[in-house]
Amino acid sequence: MNHSYHQPVFLKQSIEYLNLKDDGIYVDATFGGGGHSQAILDSNSSIKLFAFDRDTDAIESGKKISQKYKSRFLLIKSNFSRIRTHLALNRIKKIDGILFDLGISSHQIDEKERGFSFSYDAPLDMRMNREQATSASDVINNFSYEKLKQIFWEFGEEREAVRIAKMIIQKRKISSITTTGELGAIIENATRSHKKIKAKARIFQAIRIYINGELEALRSALRDAVTILNPQGRIVVISYHSLEDRIVKKFFQYEEKDCVCPEGLLKCNCGKISTIKILTKKPITPTTQEIKKNSRARSAKLRAAQKKEIK
Ligand SMILES: C[S@@+](CC[C@H](N)C(=O)[O-])C[C@H]1O[C@@H](n2cnc3c(N)ncnc32)[C@H](O)[C@@H]1O
Repeated sequence: MNHSYHQPVFLKQSIEYLNLKDDGIYVDATFGGGGHSQAILDSNSSIKLFAFDRDTDAIESGKKISQKYKSRFLLIKSNFSRIRTHLALNRIKKIDGILFDLGISSHQIDEKERGFSFSYDAPLDMRMNREQATSASDVINNFSYEKLKQIFWEFGEEREAVRIAKMIIQKRKISSITTTGELGAIIENATRSHKKIKAKARIFQAIRIYINGELEALRSALRDAVTILNPQGRIVVISYHSLEDRIVKKFFQYEEKDCVCPEGLLKCNCGKISTIKILTKKPITPTTQEIKKNSRARSAKLRAAQKKEIK
């Protein structure tokens, strides 16, 4: 397993919740270093796996795995919002399970020049797919004050969003802001509380989520996933911050409901039927031991659900 690329989180629990069955077809929506993919393939030699990642580095790292598992495994460079299209191109209409291990990999954080981390001074980039046009530098140097404030608030839930956005506008009037170090220093100066590191983490997270369209991709991929699951098929999602986890939780709760009519109606007229059964009433969280072994597990939450038979 390629632990130098990324050490997988909740490996055992993901496999358990996927409930792999003989001859099943599975999807790993977020291949990364392939830790989960390999564990899925090794758990049952009769299953087929389609894996996705939008990052070229992940696709490169997967070449060896592709050779090892041959026709049982296909790795596709794509946003996971396009899973259905790619499966259809491969004549696959239904699958038996899908795993999302959201966010970025350790490799992406550790590659300094990708600009994901405020711990290194590097160009402001943060694109998961480096073929896409908009980078963090475009956001910081060209977006309006209003837009910056909104991004910091909506995707970072940062209280100092106003002051940070104002300071960015002031600084860039003098000269462009080109590095993570410069941006980090601006955030530190603008933050009044002693929680400067937290503020940096939240602003970097906000920019990353915005430029990679992470929440829109998740919403649409969850809808598609439930549509293409076979009855008894499983969906397993590992998230690393509250914005993602809230989306997954609300989506599962909505899908599990049989009726979404306003309260007080005598008869249901919405026609909504329950499509899934939630398997994790509360999300799975890491043990102290897991966090000690793998610090990335710190904020992880796993939620899982099973598709219902729909008549
Ligand atoms: C946390 S890592 C996955 C690690 C992987 N499970 C492993 O064991 O190595 C997340 C990966 O998902 C990819 N990713 C995130 N959002 C994506 C999206 N919308 N479409 C495709 N890949 C995405 C990232 O590029 C990254 O490589």
